[in-house]
Amino acid sequence: MMIFEKPSLRTRVTFETGMTQLGGHGIFMETLLGKRESTPDIARNLCRWVDLIMARTFAHKSVTDLAEHATVPVINALSDLEHPCQILADFLTILEHKRKLKGLKLVYVGDGNNVANSLLLAAATQGMHMTVACPQGYDPDKGVWSRAQALAARSKCKLAIVRDPREAVKGADVIYTDVWASMGQESERELRARIFAPYQVNQQLMALARRDAIFLHCLPAHRGDEVTDEVLDGPQSQVLDEAENRLHIQKAIMVTLYKHWQKNKAKYLKKKK
Ligand code: CP
Ligand code: NVA
Repeated sequence: MMIFEKPSLRTRVTFETGMTQLGGHGIFMETLLGKRESTPDIARNLCRWVDLIMARTFAHKSVTDLAEHATVPVINALSDLEHPCQILADFLTILEHKRKLKGLKLVYVGDGNNVANSLLLAAATQGMHMTVACPQGYDPDKGVWSRAQALAARSKCKLAIVRDPREAVKGADVIYTDVWASMGQESERELRARIFAPYQVNQQLMALARRDAIFLHCLPAHRGDEVTDEVLDGPQSQVLDEAENRLHIQKAIMVTLYKHWQKNKAKYLKKKK
């Protein structure tokens, strides 16, 4: 079951294609959770019919409510807080290009949004150093930041938030950016365009990173805002490998979760009675 409260190109097509390639069927539904029926009630009904639920939501609580009340696995396909499927695809892309994750330096330039939050958690889990360069007032989520710090202490990597993008990108193996106004923040677009202007990833900024640095962006991109055409279409950009990898990694996520659920379903069914 694929529930979308927000638009999508990559997530919708890769989940549906992935499920078809695995021999299953994806059902697409565009709806606002909790509007016609409560989210727990939707979850309780859906899990009587389907084997997996993925949801793209505004409130993060909508995904956790689905997970709490459904007896089948629930996948976060982007909430206002996190975008974990994207980041697993990103790390697969980094691994393909750099042959390792641990010890690399990832620099995220721009808004401390859902993508930045999930990157921090993944980097800290894998022992990858990560710097976020963002304007004051646009830091990553505080709760995520403290979870990431705890993980980084264990994996022995450094996480930092800085204001100067030029300083941040020195020595970077990976430069990452995302839109300045996420879905749901459209009314702030002009204000954000002014605040984030110094955070554009352009050729001058890329030149300050390692010569073999790669550029990533979850897409969709606002060309000329957070990234120039020259960088997005340039030789360091791996954004299409990154988009392709959504398909492969999500097939792995679906298979892994489904196998885990089949093995443990007695426990899950009992817990949710
Ligand atoms: N990157 C990503 O999640 O793309 P869509 O919004 O098109 O699904
Ligand atoms: N931060 C962006 C990511 C889109 C894939 C958003 O939430 O709109």
